[in-house]
Amino acid sequence: MNESIGTIQTAALAQIAAAACERALEDARVAVLGKKGTLTLAGAAIKDVPPAEKAAFGQSLNAARTAITAALTEKQLALREAADRAALAGIDSTLPARALPVGSLHPLTLIRDQAIGILRRMGFALADGPEIEDEFHCFDALNTPADHPARNEKDTFYFESGKLLRTHTSSVQIRTMETQPPPVRIIAPGSAYRRDEIDATHLSAFNQLEGLAVGPDISLPDLKGTLEYFLRELFGTKTEVRFRPHFFPFTEPSFEIDVKLTVKGQAPRWIEVAGCGMVDPAVFDAVNRSRKDNAYDPDKVTGFAFGMGLDRLAMIRWGIKDIRLLIENDTRFLRQFA
Ligand code: PHE
Repeated sequence: MNESIGTIQTAALAQIAAAACERALEDARVAVLGKKGTLTLAGAAIKDVPPAEKAAFGQSLNAARTAITAALTEKQLALREAADRAALAGIDSTLPARALPVGSLHPLTLIRDQAIGILRRMGFALADGPEIEDEFHCFDALNTPADHPARNEKDTFYFESGKLLRTHTSSVQIRTMETQPPPVRIIAPGSAYRRDEIDATHLSAFNQLEGLAVGPDISLPDLKGTLEYFLRELFGTKTEVRFRPHFFPFTEPSFEIDVKLTVKGQAPRWIEVAGCGMVDPAVFDAVNRSRKDNAYDPDKVTGFAFGMGLDRLAMIRWGIKDIRLLIENDTRFLRQFA
């Protein structure tokens, strides 16, 4: 009996040694240790072994199983190592790694950060306000009468609650003055929403940058100087800027500012980038009523305000001819800002 176990072990170890792949190794394992494997069957014969020899038989059986199992494990490791080496054989590990695509800031982010940088150097601090606004902060306090077209449902996104998506960042003017006494010098970049027809220069969700300066001696030349300086810092000293008289309910006098847009292959055209003006005393009155004090006494303080279209500024800065490029996220467009 013991001799036959020795024979089985020798044959199994030889088959294991000869296995050239994991499949062949598995065949060798089944042939000896499987349900009908040679060692399994030999083991089943223990019942026929005379009692005196049973212990010795069992020992040699276990020894054979241990040796075969160890050989199987060792051979499996060797085969895997060989397979790994073969897989790596065709690879030149000295080649440089494949470059990962590099992301970049969106042009709107770039222009917003540049604008903020210039205005902060001029002494403006960042302010903020909600995009879902109430009529008081978006219209009433800004001296906008109930029948003003901007308040029309055709032009403004209203919620059933009566709240609305702010149509401009000017609401932050009110929110700032409500919480902070003069002097004030703030800028508020953010989104604004209008039910506009979308075309090459209009989006229904767009980006503005509001500015407000209020103090004892702020005049129209301060407004003009600030904005001209700002636009030339942003676009270069040769930038052509024009102020056109306009009307806004919350400023008096009011202006629109145009900058000349030059796109290669197109005739230059003026593009409106901002509205601005001197804060209307009616706005100070509304703020005082809301604050329940007279901190913004129209006889003691004056101020200027402006609201710029950041999307338009980006168009001028880089000669972008269609505003929709800014929201389509076409990487062929965005890559150019990397
Ligand atoms: N809120 C105005 C607009 O969106 C711009 C503006 C801001 C005008 C501040 C005057 C003063 O068109």
